[in-house]
Amino acid sequence: MQTVLITGAASGIGLDTARLFADAGWQCVLVDYNEQALRRLGQELPAPAGAAHVLQAIDLTDPGQIARLVDATPALDAILNNAGMSDASNTPLAEQGAAQMGRLLALNLQAPAAVVDACARRLKPGARIVNVASGAGLHAIPWRGAYSPSKAGLIAQTQALAQARTDLCATVLAPGFVRTALVNGLIQAGRLDPQAAVAKIPMGRMAAPAEMAQALFFLADPGAQPLSGQVLAVNGGSSIYGGTQPFPPAALEPLPLDMPLQMEVLGADAASWQASASAPSDQSAYPACLDLSPLWCEPGRVMQEVHAAAARFAARYTQCASLTVLLPLRKAARWQDAGDGAAARMLVSTFACEWGGRALRINALEVRQDVDPASLHPLLRYVCGAGAQFLTGQTLVCQGPP
Ligand code: NAI
Repeated sequence: MQTVLITGAASGIGLDTARLFADAGWQCVLVDYNEQALRRLGQELPAPAGAAHVLQAIDLTDPGQIARLVDATPALDAILNNAGMSDASNTPLAEQGAAQMGRLLALNLQAPAAVVDACARRLKPGARIVNVASGAGLHAIPWRGAYSPSKAGLIAQTQALAQARTDLCATVLAPGFVRTALVNGLIQAGRLDPQAAVAKIPMGRMAAPAEMAQALFFLADPGAQPLSGQVLAVNGGSSIYGGTQPFPPAALEPLPLDMPLQMEVLGADAASWQASASAPSDQSAYPACLDLSPLWCEPGRVMQEVHAAAARFAARYTQCASLTVLLPLRKAARWQDAGDGAAARMLVSTFACEWGGRALRINALEVRQDVDPASLHPLLRYVCGAGAQFLTGQTLVCQGPP
């Protein structure tokens, strides 16, 4: 049996995440200061065979309460530091006192480290630590107090943890807009205009909490190891968009997140890259294409290969499908070729912006040319599959612990 500790489990992203893990047979240590909601959740979740879920009603802004967390905590395969708060007060930063900023920083930035410290003795070898930051940690969002600084700090802290503890796998999930109590609160407080927010998202919609749960479920898996130290930005393309044209609201409903994957592999050595069994012919499946051709191309030709792969894909798939391209993780031998990799990555992001309205996704994995394909199968199943329908325009560097 595998065990996960989830903070902020009583609502929003944490709630859907707890349900997903419990349904998959994991034992959950559920942490939240909303005791009533926590108890309701504990009663609702299916219990794992031969064990019970553990409920911990504590305030994560209090280091003393976090330190006592370890007492009832069993050995852990993964910690998901998900609890977080925004600042809907509309108080300009310069007018905020230490107390107002302090509570937010205590929860968003200090608590994740304190939870890892408190549970250090309980971590199994190779355990996964996942910190939930935000797109707000990548770009400054004004009028939300110290929210953006706290999330930028959390990203840097996670990367430092990945370097300090190469025996663990430490990653960051940076969600875009997700329709949860946190976002509804900002909308009600007049701090967020949902139409204006969606107009900046190439996929033309916000995410459902269940989509973040899928990302967290993957990042809690040993198969996330190649991403240790990385940020997984699941935001419908909002973090890669730099244009000014508003995107229309999505016309296509997302497909079921647990849909089987129908994966086509193009390029040399295709069989060893096939990461999923074919979906049964009587079931509808989520179509995905993995194109290996840029991986082994001549230096200086990666961007052209990505363009050719994308053009092939666009000619065959019209909507609701994913393309994943593999890029070589190598340093250019000649300075004249040094722009090629960056151009290829930006091409991926640009295609994602143009295709988002049709729910056509494109992402890249940067891998060593001698990588063992099997080591990337769990990552490929997630990135290519229906569970990652809000992930687009990203290049993930797969190099294992930094
Ligand atoms: P939410 O407000 O729906 O849920 C947060 C949970 O944390 C609640 O159950 C709450 O009771 C708990 N919590 C809050 N303060 C606590 C404390 N001091 N001690 C213990 N528990 C506490 O939030 P949501 O939207 O599910 O967000 C989860 C994480 O995702 C947060 O870290 C948030 O910053 C991040 N995020 C959310 C986005 C969104 O659009 N909803 C976008 C980007 C990041």
